[in-house]
Amino acid sequence: MTTVVSSILESLASAGKAFDINEAGSREALIEHSRALISALEIPSEFVQRSFWAEPAMSAIIRLAVDVKLFQLLKEAGDAGVTPSTLSEKTEINELLLRRLMSHLVTMHIITYRDGAFHSTPLSKGLAEEKYQHSISFCYDVSRPSFNGFPQFFKSTKYKSPTAGGIDGPFQDAHKTLLPFFEWLVTTPPHLQHFDLFMGAYRAGKANWYSPGFYPVSDNLISGFDPSISDVLLVDVGGGRGHDLAAYAAAHQSACPGRLILQDREAVIADVVAENSDKELPFEVQAHDFFTSQTVRDARAYYLHSILHDWSDEESILILQNLVLALKKGYSRVLLNEIVVIEEKPTLAATSMDMMMLAHFAVRERTEANWREILEKAGLKVVKIYSYPGIAESVIEAELA
Ligand SMILES: C[S@@+](CC[C@H](N)C(=O)[O-])C[C@H]1O[C@@H](n2cnc3c(N)ncnc32)[C@H](O)[C@@H]1O
Repeated sequence: MTTVVSSILESLASAGKAFDINEAGSREALIEHSRALISALEIPSEFVQRSFWAEPAMSAIIRLAVDVKLFQLLKEAGDAGVTPSTLSEKTEINELLLRRLMSHLVTMHIITYRDGAFHSTPLSKGLAEEKYQHSISFCYDVSRPSFNGFPQFFKSTKYKSPTAGGIDGPFQDAHKTLLPFFEWLVTTPPHLQHFDLFMGAYRAGKANWYSPGFYPVSDNLISGFDPSISDVLLVDVGGGRGHDLAAYAAAHQSACPGRLILQDREAVIADVVAENSDKELPFEVQAHDFFTSQTVRDARAYYLHSILHDWSDEESILILQNLVLALKKGYSRVLLNEIVVIEEKPTLAATSMDMMMLAHFAVRERTEANWREILEKAGLKVVKIYSYPGIAESVIEAELA
């Protein structure tokens, strides 16, 4: 074990040097080596304690914290922090119970305790933001029951791989529904809102698809943009609440030569419109079902972020075929922002997303060969695949074959 630990420490030291000079991917590498170090050091009893008591208790307390606005109260208290008695008064949690719950958050490094008061950390301040509060609710209320049900569910199905696109997977079993995931979200408020904000948060803070060193927007899209073909630069197909387009618009204010269009389901677009009734959005919105023909023709690019991974191969081909009809040959690009699984070198981001897919859609994340196959079947060809250090998702650029 000494050798394993020494070798991980060497990797940590070298990733630490890269981190000091802000090298892309070094922060993620440090986290990964730290995980490896814990695995190498932890004995089984400690592993069981951490994984099956400490972490479930922590996430349960954090979910409870959403209801009583705990992280917001700590954030508002600033440097002075909050004493247990004041926090008990404000949250209406019995002081003894509160102290016990908070102590656990202290040992899990979520908050700190000093000079008789609880204090926020950069992490807990971040978690106080609305998008993370909704993400916590979605992950705890919707995803966690689906994962908890895995052992019983798979035993009952004799460990068969669930049918892709089916309505009888772990999610349906856990939530006692026959509805597909996206339909269930609409019928069970506030889960649709929680999910949509979770989508805007789950990879926030990482390099964006258009960041320098990732997909070269100016070379590949702006250059060659021809308003005489169409004045639309980008259509975000299934773009949720438009967080990707909003970020793109903010980053390209002076260099956005064409229209930006957000498309999603009726219920999602209705929420976007209602919530922004007093604001001017930096993009247009359209209700569009991507299983029907694309209505915006000849745009420079159609962007699909985390869309096809929710669907079986057959359904994904159908979605692409509905898009293909709108593409201008040699001009329009299809940009899939998706995980490309490397089976020999899986990452936690890729395998945990794969588990989310297994739990909620009974589908899987895809390898490069899988992506090429479905694109080809839809009449498209891959131009190039762009990746970025430490980012799970790649941009697969495709065009009409
Ligand atoms: C996994 S989310 C991805 C959202 C967004 N692209 C992102 O990366 O954050 C999938 C999106 O597809 C939308 N969606 C599901 N079925 C759809 C359909 N038939 N037509 C259009 N959008 C759909 C959902 O409402 C949701 O916003």
